[in-house]
Amino acid sequence: MRCRKLKADLARRLALAALFAALAGCRQDMHDQPKFEPLEATALFADRSSARPLVAGTVARGQLREDQALFTGLEGDQFVSDLPLEMTAELVARGRTRYDAFCSPCHGLQGDGLGMIVRRGFKQPTSLHEQRLRDTPVGYFFDVMTRGFGQMSSYAAQVGPEDRWAIAAYIRALQLSRFTPVEILTPEDLRRLEGDEELVAVPETEVE
Ligand code: HEC
Repeated sequence: MRCRKLKADLARRLALAALFAALAGCRQDMHDQPKFEPLEATALFADRSSARPLVAGTVARGQLREDQALFTGLEGDQFVSDLPLEMTAELVARGRTRYDAFCSPCHGLQGDGLGMIVRRGFKQPTSLHEQRLRDTPVGYFFDVMTRGFGQMSSYAAQVGPEDRWAIAAYIRALQLSRFTPVEILTPEDLRRLEGDEELVAVPETEVE
């Protein structure tokens, strides 16, 4: 009786061991399948490199960037002064969400350059309301976001080209918001400016 129990136990252990060996073998096969490691040499090509260059004249799907203005903000070597996308309320609204997420930490929600990171010691950027930046063509903002500027790094990896234009459009809106000529204000706007209590009651929004 006792002997049979021992035998059964041994059989079970052997079966388990065989199972583990088989599983481990399986895993090893997957690891060792034929493939080139990065930078591995090969005798297959004359230059002995397993990493092959792109075939001349081909473009990877989704990477055709023919439209120079749209992808660089330049026309020839000049910054474009017209948005290469249609300017719509949706584009500006989209730009606002992207600006608030990616730019306001330093440039501030209002563009004055006093974002949270700056208040905690990062270099303070020039206010986007400075005359120089009001006069600059819109392509300049696209270029700064794409290639970075001084201590500010590039945002090309986080923010796609269309969103970069949306942000540029929103920066223009921010700039306009501070330099509205008084002549274009409605009588209602003027009363609000002069402190008409009823009109001044604009709902409080969280700013920074
Ligand atoms: C981490 C902080 C930080 C973030 C985030 C940031 N910037 Fe900047 N930005 C700076 C600093 C600092 C400078 C000034 C760099 C210098 O002078 O070395 C600058 C410069 C600029 C300038 C150039 C101003 C000039 O003087 O010509 C523009 C335009 C600009 N940023 C736009 C943006 C936009 C748009 C975003 C969002 C996509 C953004 N920045 C995100 C810190 C930041």
